[in-house]
Amino acid sequence: MLSAFPRVDLVGGPTPLEPMHRVGAVAGHPQLWIKRDDCMPLAFGGNKVRSLEFWIGEALAQGSDILVVAGALPSNQCRLTAAAAAKTGLDALVLYAGDASAPLRGNALVTERMGAEIRRLGPVGEEERGRLARQAVAELAAAGRRPYLIGDPLTGALGYARAAEELSEQASALNLDLRHIVLPGSMGVTEAGMIFGAALLDLPWTFHLISVEYDAPVLRQRLDAILKGLWRHTGREPRPDLLDLVRIDVSQLGGGYGIATEASLQAASDFARYEALVLEQTYVAKTFAGLLSRVAHRSIPVDEAACILHTGGTPSIFETA
Ligand SMILES: Cc1ncc(COP(=O)(O)O)c(C=O)c1O
Repeated sequence: MLSAFPRVDLVGGPTPLEPMHRVGAVAGHPQLWIKRDDCMPLAFGGNKVRSLEFWIGEALAQGSDILVVAGALPSNQCRLTAAAAAKTGLDALVLYAGDASAPLRGNALVTERMGAEIRRLGPVGEEERGRLARQAVAELAAAGRRPYLIGDPLTGALGYARAAEELSEQASALNLDLRHIVLPGSMGVTEAGMIFGAALLDLPWTFHLISVEYDAPVLRQRLDAILKGLWRHTGREPRPDLLDLVRIDVSQLGGGYGIATEASLQAASDFARYEALVLEQTYVAKTFAGLLSRVAHRSIPVDEAACILHTGGTPSIFETA
């Protein structure tokens, strides 16, 4: 069914599914696994690569010749759009909001290295950033280019519907009866895609979303909207009960989006020492802290296998001065 949607291969095959024996021993849970979406060949990888497979598939199907994307300097989506454009022979225009004199480090440095045209917008809000992106698309079209705006949530979510299938096949091959999936709760694209993909296959997975951005009602409403859109988009009969499989955990939010907490700093240090994992602070370290907390509170029982999704974001650790 997902094969009806145009896609280009950017992930390059299944990402590793690995046991975390050492952290498991310390946490007292013998069946902790990790899906390594931080391990992809494209420019440090990450969850956005799976969305880009479908965004660029759509762009190429429409005959586009330039990708347009907007974000903040630490944006993984901007970095990976620039990388995917370089890989597929498209141009990329990246609009960066925020202090226009801030140096390009980490993600933004990679974006520049990939040859994207970078435009600095200054300190504009999210709405204005979106308006400026649409304006850039209109201007490019008026100048005879065929621009494609990166970011549609429904198209992007298809990447994780596919990832659910990939993970389920890997687990089956290992005779692993996965029951719990832990991942960041943010804009909802990755999460809804994976929930949708698991529903298509009737998988017995409970989803633990560790919120890094929104309160539970807002995140739930975002998921609901994307899921409803996905049923429409794919022409499938909707399953209204999907959110019953979702646990939203806001205990790691701390001071809010992008602000590290004591637990997230500790998680970054522990998972590095015990599992050689690199965790950035905005999305990933809070999610791993959430895994430990849910295991400690038995929200993830010790006799049921759990898998955490590492969504990448690795270059962010090089962004601090
Ligand atoms: C590394 C990383 N993890 C998680 C997320 C959250 O994904 P989503 O926006 O699909 O909820 C993002 C989004 O930017 C990300 O870059």
